[in-house]
Amino acid sequence: MSAGLFITFEGGEGGGKSTQARILAERLRAADHEVVLTREPGGSPGAEALRNLLLEGDADRWSPLSETLLMYAARRDHLERTILPALTAGKVVVCDRFYDSTRAYQGAAGGVDPGVIAALEDAVVGRHAPDLTLVFDLPVETVLARAAERGAAEARFESKGRAFHERLRAAFLEIARREPARCVLIDADRPVEAMSDAIWTAVEASLSKAILR
Ligand SMILES: Nc1ncnc2c1ncn2[C@@H]1O[C@H](COP(=O)(O)OP(=O)(O)OP(=O)(O)O)[C@@H](O)[C@H]1O
Ligand SMILES: [Mg+2]
Repeated sequence: MSAGLFITFEGGEGGGKSTQARILAERLRAADHEVVLTREPGGSPGAEALRNLLLEGDADRWSPLSETLLMYAARRDHLERTILPALTAGKVVVCDRFYDSTRAYQGAAGGVDPGVIAALEDAVVGRHAPDLTLVFDLPVETVLARAAERGAAEARFESKGRAFHERLRAAFLEIARREPARCVLIDADRPVEAMSDAIWTAVEASLSKAILR
């Protein structure tokens, strides 16, 4: 049985994470890997119910700390019921957002104490950190243009202003800079195919490492 691999997609809004996660899942399946494509918040029945509470309603429905705790309740359920069983079975888990989004959205942009978030990471995720995190980077101009084009249905996060998106971008860049062994920065201001080729190169390198460990 092959070793499981846990891959996460991170970054601000509209960088193409969901598009690329789908492409990667197909490419992995074509290469005979068993793949679980999942997302946060959500990815298990309980976490999907929490997702609806988190993404619907007014932008100030939850305080950043309440939001963090709901995200972590959802994350624990997702890990226990979806991610860990798949990894144990040797599958590749492709997850659209994970704990870096909590650091960036609720922490850096929302003002939640990074110490509180770090304690939750330890308690809830512990040693099950992602093997590879693809951090999508996009100028805020492009983020706002794509959001306007889409007319965004799940508007709670996207209705926030330019300064919010600048803080998010800086936070994700900082995560990638501080954790180079886990993170690969993906320039998202390029055509879909150029991005998926860069992602495949990073994933192949991680798969080779997983076989050796
Ligand atoms: N490389 C690209 N160049 C231009 N447009 C793109 C590219 N990739 C995706 N898009 C378009 O940008 C929009 C956002 O893409 P997608 O939903 O994949 O991003 P996302 O990072 O998952 O966004 P969110 O954070 O809101 O979930 C979609 O309309 C998609 O078609
Ligand atoms: Mg998405």
